[in-house]
Amino acid sequence: MTLSSAAVGEWAELTERYAQLVEAINRANHLYYVLDAPEIADAEYDRLMEELRAIESEHPELQSPDSPTQRVGAGPAAQFAVVPHRVPMLSLANAFTADALRAWHERITRLLGREVRDFTIEPKIDGLAIMLRYEQGRFSIGATRGDGSQGEDITANLRTIRSVPLTLSPDPPPPSYLEVRGEVYLSQTAFQRINDERAAAGQPLFANPRNCAAGSVRQLDSRITARRPLDVFIYALGEAEGWQPRTQWQMLEAFASWGFRTNPNNARAQTIDEVVAACADWEHRRESLAYEIDGVVVKVNDLDVQSELGAVGREPRWAIAFKFPPVQATTVLRSIEVNVGRTGSLNPFAVLQPVQVGGVTISQATLHNEDDIRRKDIRVGDTVLVHRAGEVIPQVIGPILSKRPPDAVPYALPTICPVCGSPVVRPEGEAMARCTGGFARCVAQRFELLKHFVSRGAMDIESVGEKLAWSLVIDNKLVYDPSDLYALSKDQLVALERVGDKSAQNILDNIEASKKRPLTRVLYALGIRYVGYQTAELLARAFGTMDHLRQASLEEIVGVEGIGPKIGESVHAWLHDADNLHIVDKLVAFGVNMTEQAATRGGPLAGLTMVVTGRLERQSRSQIEQRIKELGGAVGDSVSKKTSYLVAGEDAGSKLEKAKKLGTPIIDEAGFEALIEERSNV
Ligand code: IVH
Repeated sequence: MTLSSAAVGEWAELTERYAQLVEAINRANHLYYVLDAPEIADAEYDRLMEELRAIESEHPELQSPDSPTQRVGAGPAAQFAVVPHRVPMLSLANAFTADALRAWHERITRLLGREVRDFTIEPKIDGLAIMLRYEQGRFSIGATRGDGSQGEDITANLRTIRSVPLTLSPDPPPPSYLEVRGEVYLSQTAFQRINDERAAAGQPLFANPRNCAAGSVRQLDSRITARRPLDVFIYALGEAEGWQPRTQWQMLEAFASWGFRTNPNNARAQTIDEVVAACADWEHRRESLAYEIDGVVVKVNDLDVQSELGAVGREPRWAIAFKFPPVQATTVLRSIEVNVGRTGSLNPFAVLQPVQVGGVTISQATLHNEDDIRRKDIRVGDTVLVHRAGEVIPQVIGPILSKRPPDAVPYALPTICPVCGSPVVRPEGEAMARCTGGFARCVAQRFELLKHFVSRGAMDIESVGEKLAWSLVIDNKLVYDPSDLYALSKDQLVALERVGDKSAQNILDNIEASKKRPLTRVLYALGIRYVGYQTAELLARAFGTMDHLRQASLEEIVGVEGIGPKIGESVHAWLHDADNLHIVDKLVAFGVNMTEQAATRGGPLAGLTMVVTGRLERQSRSQIEQRIKELGGAVGDSVSKKTSYLVAGEDAGSKLEKAKKLGTPIIDEAGFEALIEERSNV
């Protein structure tokens, strides 16, 4: 066949346009999926893809396997082919404690006869190890780790992952043959979404993001894989022709320059002390990541030193995995009980056979609401998977269906309130069932409101803890609504069990001090439905005094920036209920402040920037951070020259080191309180 010169020109134009489109889309993918810094709008991206698809459908001969249209997945395969690993894929030895890390360091130092320094610190992603092979800069084969000597060919599946480059960036030129290794994983949110969908479809749940990622990447039908938002981080070299990096760090940098996604949280440490501090820091910060990590991988940076150290069996001596305590476990669900909340909501929770999760023993976990229990089909007697991470309340993820006892029955909420016996209703469109007894009949609601009223973000009456609240509301009926606190006498308190003269005085002093709290705190403390701390602050700032707020119309309340109709109606209705107003009037009569003072603007910590780190004893990190802000200070993420104070709890890691280096004042919780005290009195 001969082509006319016009046709030749057209063809050349078309192939050039095709190449342009492939490049533009690959670049957009790299910016979006690898660098997390998109440069073109979604609509523009869609337009380019559309054009590319159109060309390919008219000229299938142009389509190459590394076309971005090929990420949608192919049809089902019969089975995976076997891929031998030319260089075995090793695993890592574990260290569960700081001492074990130091012991590892001593061992390799002894072996080398000189102190080993300079390490990389890489978050250990809990996913599935994979290898990617590139020939002449093009993705040719991807495989699972398998047994380390041979894995499964999952090329079609890996191609669907947007952060796996199909062609490598040419500057600097990549090796003509390159094998890299990394981890395929799913974010927490993607994992939860997939499990929610499975629960709704009655399919068994994945135990954790790792199993979910592994299940997704080992699909024989890559179209299923394409629908799972998998991601990948590259962290190791298998083999490279004609390329010999000097350090692990340099290797990671080269990977990134070729278009691979490397973890932006990778870091370096010089000494073993720094390594230990960084590991401890990650143990506390692990929750801040969008994906699950089960530890930190520590590697000797210098590759010559790595080869000197070598491996024992399948484990290199030059690297170690510092492992966190697991955040999931299975245990038996003994019963489902119900706690009645402040507003009468029935909150079901799981009573579990005690089990160790995330380093502590848990025996209870939240179950959200009735629908959630139904959707996940959680039954008493089930063996369930529980999850606990950081300061988060333990959760029941779902049942292990294979272990269900034959007589287990679906769960139903009680139809009468377990505390006061009033009927339970569930209003249309609401997730929570409620006790209809109200404040008057349901003592649980009175108890919960008092607990909330005295809590730290609210009136902050520290000496009235849970036991005393129970005694005041339930056993001795001294407190009906929170305003009754202000009428308590010393004699009444001393008459209570376990309250001596001194502690009675302390309680009274605390109660007295709470009268000065700004309106924000009072509004929050009253426990109005949908009014959290921030909403209370908006209202207090907008209206200034309780009187103004009481006089406000619904329109005026909803007119406040940030207050929607649902919240507005709840606030307005609350303020027009005689019983509620009676409480407010009593509070006023007892001398409780009802204005938003200057405190929120100036404040004792005004002008200070503070960073909080480590495990604190009496309050959580976020509580301290909230107080800093409330008291006029600013909260920083990292220690710098601008940091005025570091508030450090136990096991404070790299931030503490940094503060020491910079000479930043370091205070503990008591020091923090003292600082507020001191600056309040000037
Ligand atoms: S290096 C010899 N680096 O952890 C080097 N592994 O327990 C072997 N992993 O199979 C791996 N993040 O699945 C390395 N930054 C990282 C890692 C990492 C996660 C996984 C990987 C490996 C397992 C070893």
